[in-house]
Amino acid sequence: MDWNEIIGHQENIQQLRTLLAAGRMPHALLFTGPDGIGKMLVAKTLAAAALCQEADSTPCGQCSSCRSLASDNHPDFSVVRTEGPAIKIEQIRQLQSELAFAPYLGDRRVCIIEDAERMTAQAANSLLKTLEEPQGSILFILTAASRQILLETIVSRCLTVAFQPLLQASLTEALRAKGIAAEQAEVAARLSGGKMGKALLLLADGGLDKRNQAADLATGLPHSDMQFIWNTAALFDKAERREFLSLLDFLTLILRDMLMIVSRQDRRLLYNIDLEERLTMEAQNWSEPALIKALGEVTTCRQALQANANPRLTGEALLIKLRDLAGGG
Ligand SMILES: Nc1ncnc2c1ncn2[C@@H]1O[C@H](COP(=O)(O)OP(=O)(O)O)[C@@H](O)[C@H]1O
Ligand SMILES: [Mg+2]
Ligand SMILES: [Zn+2]
Repeated sequence: MDWNEIIGHQENIQQLRTLLAAGRMPHALLFTGPDGIGKMLVAKTLAAAALCQEADSTPCGQCSSCRSLASDNHPDFSVVRTEGPAIKIEQIRQLQSELAFAPYLGDRRVCIIEDAERMTAQAANSLLKTLEEPQGSILFILTAASRQILLETIVSRCLTVAFQPLLQASLTEALRAKGIAAEQAEVAARLSGGKMGKALLLLADGGLDKRNQAADLATGLPHSDMQFIWNTAALFDKAERREFLSLLDFLTLILRDMLMIVSRQDRRLLYNIDLEERLTMEAQNWSEPALIKALGEVTTCRQALQANANPRLTGEALLIKLRDLAGGG
């Protein structure tokens, strides 16, 4: 755990370290921002710094607190996250019973609540009581996608620290520093929208498979027959809904890139910069209005899936519409 391992977020880190060093850390912090940008990484590093027995805003890595954290069994540190779809009231109660005891190693406890928007209403109300009357010295760090999706009463008890996606250039640079080849780093930085966590997933083994599948789909469709459509839709049926949705996300980026090409925008703005040649070829099958309609169809399909529509039927309908659009519609 070291601040230096974190790419970007410099102002937030500075603010947190200053509060800590000055002994002015509030009881509760709320880290907001999209998934995978490093909120947990910053939260854990801050926890390490706050628990470290050296009076400094950097974890020393040597003291008994730092060593307990490194071996994942710090008695004064807990992380609450979903087990299943939601953070349940039992988890908050369990936490509250732990908080009743004095800290073991130092003079404070730290508790991270990851993706706090997943708390059930009961869990949130129960946590609220603890936030209203904090016992002893405890630091809560909540992470969430945004302030709006949390109870206003919870938000008002926390100091909000907003995290922004990284600039594409700094993410590319950070990935290259990890030894990733230039083109790969560039593509992952673009596709991830500035989210390091997502970029790393894309670069992991097979991470670009879904993207490639979406590209094959978009470029294969205009030349396809009904058999191809049925076979592909049958695959949607077997896949998890989440996987289907992620395929649709990539399909959107592929269609958007072809739209950029057809409308003669700057090529440097392509997400799938490594597929430029292939997409340029395939874009000849599409008109600008057809691509715009196609993007709308993908959005409609995503909404239907999120509303629990049947994946095979929804997928089939989408593929037929896209094929017809590519054929000059
Ligand atoms: N800014 C960053 N600097 C370095 N690594 C990062 C950064 N953001 C994300 N990561 C990597 O991605 C992983 C997932 O990020 P995480 O902190 O869980 O994001 P979030 O809490 O915002 O969803 C981290 O464990 C880390 O390996
Ligand atoms: Mg996350
Ligand atoms: Zn230490």
